[in-house]
Amino acid sequence: ASIAQFVNALPNPLAPAFRFELSGTPTVSMAQTRWQVLPNGPETTVWGFGGDAQESGLPSITSPGRTFEVQAGQALQVQWRNDLPASPSHLLPVDTTVHLADLSDGPPVVPHLHGGNTESDSDGLPEYWWAPGELEKGPRFVKSLYTYSNAQEAATIWYHDHALGITRLNVYAGLAGFYIVRDAYDTGLPDNPLRLPAPPYDIPLAIQDRMFDLDNQLFYPSSPALAAQLFGPADYPDPTIFAEFFGDVIIVNGKAWPKLRVEPRKYRFRLLNGSDTRFYNLFMDLGVPWMSLGFVQVGTDQGLLNAPVATPKLSLAPGERLDVVVDFSGLAGQTIILRNNAPGTFKRPLVLDPRTTGRIMAFEVSQPLDRSVPDLPLPATLRGGPGQPPAVSLPAELAKVSHTRQVFLYEGMDPRGRLKPALGTTAGPLDFHIASTETPSRGSTEVWEIFNTTPDTHPIHLHLVRFLVVNRQRFDVRRFQPGPTGAQSIRFQGQPRPAAAGEAGWKDTVQVPPGEVVRIVATFDRPGRYVWHCHILSHEDHEMMRPFDVQP
Ligand code: C2O
Ligand code: CU
Repeated sequence: ASIAQFVNALPNPLAPAFRFELSGTPTVSMAQTRWQVLPNGPETTVWGFGGDAQESGLPSITSPGRTFEVQAGQALQVQWRNDLPASPSHLLPVDTTVHLADLSDGPPVVPHLHGGNTESDSDGLPEYWWAPGELEKGPRFVKSLYTYSNAQEAATIWYHDHALGITRLNVYAGLAGFYIVRDAYDTGLPDNPLRLPAPPYDIPLAIQDRMFDLDNQLFYPSSPALAAQLFGPADYPDPTIFAEFFGDVIIVNGKAWPKLRVEPRKYRFRLLNGSDTRFYNLFMDLGVPWMSLGFVQVGTDQGLLNAPVATPKLSLAPGERLDVVVDFSGLAGQTIILRNNAPGTFKRPLVLDPRTTGRIMAFEVSQPLDRSVPDLPLPATLRGGPGQPPAVSLPAELAKVSHTRQVFLYEGMDPRGRLKPALGTTAGPLDFHIASTETPSRGSTEVWEIFNTTPDTHPIHLHLVRFLVVNRQRFDVRRFQPGPTGAQSIRFQGQPRPAAAGEAGWKDTVQVPPGEVVRIVATFDRPGRYVWHCHILSHEDHEMMRPFDVQP
């Protein structure tokens, strides 16, 4: 049966009813609920986040989770609680041959603030998980009362589960939500100095892909027979992890192919790719070839660009965010479809169908223009001018660099013969449990050169830090020989290329294409253990993750 598109109304994660009440020390519960994800038929059992019952008319637990909206510099403590059902052990099929997975007391979870500059013990690292009621705890568990300093610039960051070996399943079940940091430059007021569209014209959009069974329940592929068909023979357990996950239904803010009614004016959309594996190439489709509508990108993962960048299309990998302005003025009466034409990272033909996964959501320009809120022109610059935050300066960051490291993306096999992506050094791939090889000293600024020796693009994410892309350069993968003299076998091809205009801002996740080295520069400002990993969740769960330890 086909699912009706553009029927669901888009929920707005910044609407008061969808936000957390943040007074004192909120308790945030991770729990199971039922959610109307598809427009027709039964509700879907999902996991989400919520607090004590609110007056909003919404159920306490929402999926995606309720939005945190915080002011930069104002610390927040959150008491996290795992209230998921202890039995059955998980909503989805768990492959216990991968890392973990101690499910004896119910689903292990740990909330991570992605993009947060957070102390190590509150970061929500993979081995810090706990089971419902904290009856069982991960090997490194410290506490469930987390502190977020919020000592960072305004940005669209997000929170999601990060439990070792089952992050893909916990996030797929619904454990993700927005965390919006605002500051004096981005107050959300209509007369804010940057003149960016403010609420209600400022709307986060979390894009994810899912699969459903005939009862509208979440389906997650795990059968050995299907794995053999898609990825070739191996000694698959049942259930088995897959090398990748591509769903055939697109959900935005927890609803399948929703529709948003808009006014003919500018809107700010904070796009998040919360999918497991799927990349999106996004563009706006007005249905007729002689009319087009582009985006004006104003920000990256971790804040504003120096100046707006007009672009007809956007590329968004798992974990990344893009902050864009879309101008619907002059389009009253039109319906515009946000579309996707990314083939996926693994070139399987079935991952993109123009009628399903080629469509994200619709904008219907059917609301009257509210003239009491001015629709201001965008400024020529967003940083570096009067009343604006300081400009992003790559030379200033590079001037602080004290160390350069080379790190590598590899592809290999696990003991059962399944494809296993990995991270490592010039010497070769290293499993997650091997001690950190990346140990920056506290306060130091480093360049990391991330070499991709695999045939796929991987979105690489570092916890703790924000970084700038220094440049990108090709190298000869066939000549590279990992080992004690690995570094000597690197042959660059062509000149380094600077970051593209839309990438020239603070980021925390970066696309690293095959045969390319991406150089990033970051300052490691808090001591302790953190991780860096591929944000394709099926890769992260299957060894494409490494610890790093910032020395005190
Ligand atoms: Cu969004 Cu380590 O994760
Ligand atoms: Cu990957």
